[in-house]
Amino acid sequence: MLVSGCLLVRLAILLSVLLVQSCQGQSWEAFQNKHIDYPQTPASNPNAYCNLMMVKRNLNPSRCKPRNTFINHSKESVLEVCGKGGKHWQDKFYDSNENFPMIDCSYTDGKPPKDCKYKGTGSSRRIRVTCENKKPVHLEKVL
Ligand SMILES: *[C@@H]1O[C@H](CO)[C@@H](O)[C@H](O)[C@H]1NC(C)=O
Repeated sequence: MLVSGCLLVRLAILLSVLLVQSCQGQSWEAFQNKHIDYPQTPASNPNAYCNLMMVKRNLNPSRCKPRNTFINHSKESVLEVCGKGGKHWQDKFYDSNENFPMIDCSYTDGKPPKDCKYKGTGSSRRIRVTCENKKPVHLEKVL
């Protein structure tokens, strides 16, 4: 009984570690869901765009994500940032050579999951990403 109790605790710890890792969503697929919207989804203005997209991509399941950026450029060209479309900065970080049109969304008020309100700001900037296996897995910052 004591032994199986210990085993259960260990399994529970292992499971929660795995869950935490999968929730961080560090994959190219998760990156595309969070950061690429091409061609850009139509909306009446940048704020409405952000409010819509954060729900559409399910980014506010239990809390309003404070900030998120959507890039209006093909996934192929974003993928290239880890190759010839980018320049190595340090560690796993790469900076894009070109500017990408994007909308940056910052949380203003409201409640999850459907009523988080955002201020959207459009710009065209270079991006810094983390690459794993030559694929972007995290948008580190907008340069
Ligand atoms: C998004 O990108 C496409 C293709 O480059 C462009 O035609 C379109 O105007 C862009 N949309 C916005 C809102 O910038």
